Amino acid sequence: MSAPLRQGELAEATVVPVALGERAYDIAIGRGLLASLGARIKALRPGAKCAIVTDTTVARHHLAAAEASLTAAGIASARIVVPPGEGSKSYATFQQVCEQIIAARIERGDLIVALGGGVIGDLAGFAAASVRRGLDYVQVPTTLLAQVDSSVGGKTGIDSPLGKNLIGAFHQPILVVADTALLDTLPKRDFRAGYAEVAKYGLLGDAAFFAWLEKNWQGVFSGEQSAAREHAIAVCCRGKAGIVARDERETGERALLNLGHTFGHALEAAAGFSGRLLHGEAISLGMALAFDFSARKGLIAAAEAERAEAHLAAVGLPTHLKDNPGGMPGVDRLMDLIAQDKKVKRGALTFILVRGIGQAFVESDVDPAEVRAFLTDKLSA
Ligand SMILES: NC(=O)c1ccc[n+]([C@@H]2O[C@H](COP(=O)([O-])OP(=O)(O)OC[C@H]3O[C@@H](n4cnc5c(N)ncnc54)[C@H](O)[C@@H]3O)[C@@H](O)[C@H]2O)c1
Ligand SMILES: [Zn+2]
Repeated sequence: MSAPLRQGELAEATVVPVALGERAYDIAIGRGLLASLGARIKALRPGAKCAIVTDTTVARHHLAAAEASLTAAGIASARIVVPPGEGSKSYATFQQVCEQIIAARIERGDLIVALGGGVIGDLAGFAAASVRRGLDYVQVPTTLLAQVDSSVGGKTGIDSPLGKNLIGAFHQPILVVADTALLDTLPKRDFRAGYAEVAKYGLLGDAAFFAWLEKNWQGVFSGEQSAAREHAIAVCCRGKAGIVARDERETGERALLNLGHTFGHALEAAAGFSGRLLHGEAISLGMALAFDFSARKGLIAAAEAERAEAHLAAVGLPTHLKDNPGGMPGVDRLMDLIAQDKKVKRGALTFILVRGIGQAFVESDVDPAEVRAFLTDKLSA
């Protein structure tokens, strides 16, 4: 669906609605859309001031353009710039961001703009949920992962020293502006890692989209062929928007978005959440393991698991534990980390398994011994 151009908008957008009743909002997707940010905000909240939260890397590339768009629409803005990386999802940085929002006199009726990847979206979104018991905010995602996943759905938060994302709130944005041109400055490795989440939408619920990706992934990676990139991002956003609209608080279906994440989080934790293993790389390994494990349980044919892995490998993502850039953890350590995962209930493990490409389901009764035997085999392969 293409929205008509309004004054001040320079590029045509694909608009994906997130149907959440009084919390409904639009995701606008398109190349060059950052220039329309100010006009879009002004249309939604006339007279509001903004505080832009971003990291130093994103600020270097894109802050001036974001500020220029707000200024052109007559919107006053403050800037809050934090260091890049997962380390900023901390109590200390959260405190600084909240204090700077208050110091900038951002009040009820004003807006926070999260300009960055998933780290900034989660951090700024949680600050927005917290300051004055809740300010509205706008997501301007600048990584592929953030454009297809973290900016949509309202999960916000920071990390505890005891685990990732343990402190947070559900707080939906009022608008998401995904300018696909911002991804041109993203390092290739980060783009590729984000692509694991793109493939995830096909693998979990959309076999036709997965087949399309098998043919068109090069167009998604290349900035010039933005039609393919935009199409992929829009399909992912539509997929996530549908799931979130049906299960906002993850009591059921939303858990499917965790395909590959139980194994993946354990691998990330084993690598110490360092840059050695990016989240998307861990999810690629995790999805390959989830498909393998499903094949081992007789839920799918081995060839189906091979097809899923072959595509992830074709784009350069890791699919074998021996290729894990985070190193080879031991099975005891992995089982400990899996058991710490929030999806453990009464001794049984919950995994997202598959009955085929595009047919994921929640299995909440997985025997830990079976997982241990599987991982032992995989680690020795
Ligand atoms: N809320 C959710 O639903 C949800 C979902 C998935 C992931 N997450 C969270 O997202 C985070 C990961 O997000 P991420 O992968 O976007 O990481 P990130 O925000 O750390 O960004 C990755 C790196 O790319 C840089 N960068 C960002 N945009 C850039 C651009 N356009 N050009 C050049 N450099 C750029 C950043 O400075 C950073 O160094 C994790 O904390 C994860 O928990 C949240
Ligand atoms: Zn993920």
